[in-house]
Amino acid sequence: MKQEKILVIGASGQIGVELTLALRKIYGAQNVIASDLREQNPLLEGTGPYVSMDVMNKEMLHVQVIRQNVTQIYLLAAILSATGEKNPNLAWHLNMQGLLNVLDIAREEKLTKVYWPSSIAVFGPTSPKQNCPQQTIIEPTTVYGISKYAGEFWCNYYFHKFGVDVRSLRYPGLISYKSAPGGGTTDYAVEIYHEALAEKSYTSFLEKGTYLPMMYMPDAIRATIELMEAPIEKIKVRTSYNLSAMSFSPEEIAASIQKHIPEFTMSYEPDYRQSIADSWPQSIDDSVARADWGWAPEYNLDKMTADMLTNLKSQG
Ligand SMILES: NC(=O)c1ccc[n+]([C@@H]2O[C@H](COP(=O)([O-])OP(=O)(O)OC[C@H]3O[C@@H](n4cnc5c(N)ncnc54)[C@H](O)[C@@H]3O)[C@@H](O)[C@H]2O)c1
Repeated sequence: MKQEKILVIGASGQIGVELTLALRKIYGAQNVIASDLREQNPLLEGTGPYVSMDVMNKEMLHVQVIRQNVTQIYLLAAILSATGEKNPNLAWHLNMQGLLNVLDIAREEKLTKVYWPSSIAVFGPTSPKQNCPQQTIIEPTTVYGISKYAGEFWCNYYFHKFGVDVRSLRYPGLISYKSAPGGGTTDYAVEIYHEALAEKSYTSFLEKGTYLPMMYMPDAIRATIELMEAPIEKIKVRTSYNLSAMSFSPEEIAASIQKHIPEFTMSYEPDYRQSIADSWPQSIDDSVARADWGWAPEYNLDKMTADMLTNLKSQG
C-alpha cells in the first residue's frame, strides 16, 4: 500500500489541532504535515512537522505538495459564520479561492484524497427546521453559507469531471476544550463551559429557545476519519453529507451544567448572531451518512458536559 503523506491546512484552528493529532496517531507523526497562516498552535509543538503557509498562495502550496510528496490534503482554513458577516468579501474570497487552489492541485498532482468541511450553515430560513434532510430547499442567507454551498458544488464538479476523490461533511456547531473556536455562531456553547468554571455565570449571545445542531469534537474527528477511510464505493454523496449528534438550546446546556455546578446562572443578551442562528435548522437528519458509511454519534449533551467540565478542570 502506498505510504500516505497528509497536509492539514488550517491546522492551528479549533478542528485542525485535534484532527492533526488524531491523524498523526494513525499515519505516523512524520507523515502528517501541519500548516497554517498563523503561528503553530502550542498544542502541536513537538508532535510533528509544521510549515507556515497561506492557502491563497497557490504556487507556494503547489511547491509544498510536490516537495513533501503530499498524497492527501485536509483543508480547514476558512472564515466562519459570525466573522464572515463582518467581512463578507474576505470570507467569500478565502472560502472559495482556497478550495479551488486545493482542488486544482489535487487534480494536477493526482492526490489520492481531499477533505473539505461544509456546514449546516448551507441551510437557510426556507429549509425545514426539524430533521432537515440531506436533499431539500437550500437558500443560505449568510456569506459563509453561500460560500459553503458553492464549495459543495465545486467538490461535486471536481469529482465527476476530473475524478478528484474529495469528501465532505456538513458539520454542526462543534464543542471542544483544546483549541478555542474561531468566530462561529455556536461559539457560545464552548464559552459557557469556561465561564461556568471561572465565573459561575454566563451571558449568552443567543436567546432562550434557540435550538441548534451541535456535536462534541471527538465525534466530529471520528466522523471525519471514518468518512475519509471508507471505501470509495460507499461515498455516494459528492457534495457534502449531513452529520448530526444532538440539538439543544442555551437554557438546556445551562441546565446540563447545573447538574455539576448548581450555583451556575445564565443571562441572555442576544446580538447580531441571533439572526444567523434563526436562519438555520434546529436539527439535522443524517440518515444518509448512517446508511452509506455507518456514521453513529457517541456523545449526547449530558455526556459531553461531564467530559468538558472534567477536562477543563484538569487543564486548570
Ligand atoms: N468549528 C465549527 O463549529 C465548524 C462548524 C461547521 C464547519 N466548520 C468548518 O470547519 C473548518 C475548520 O473550522 P475551525 O472551527 O477549525 O476554524 P478556525 O477558525 O478555528 O481555524 C481555521 C484556521 O485556518 C487558518 N487560516 C485562515 N486563513 C488561512 C490562510 N489563508 N491560509 C492558511 N491558513 C489559514 C486560521 O489561522 C485558523 O487557524 C472550516 O472550514 C469551517 O468552516 C467548523
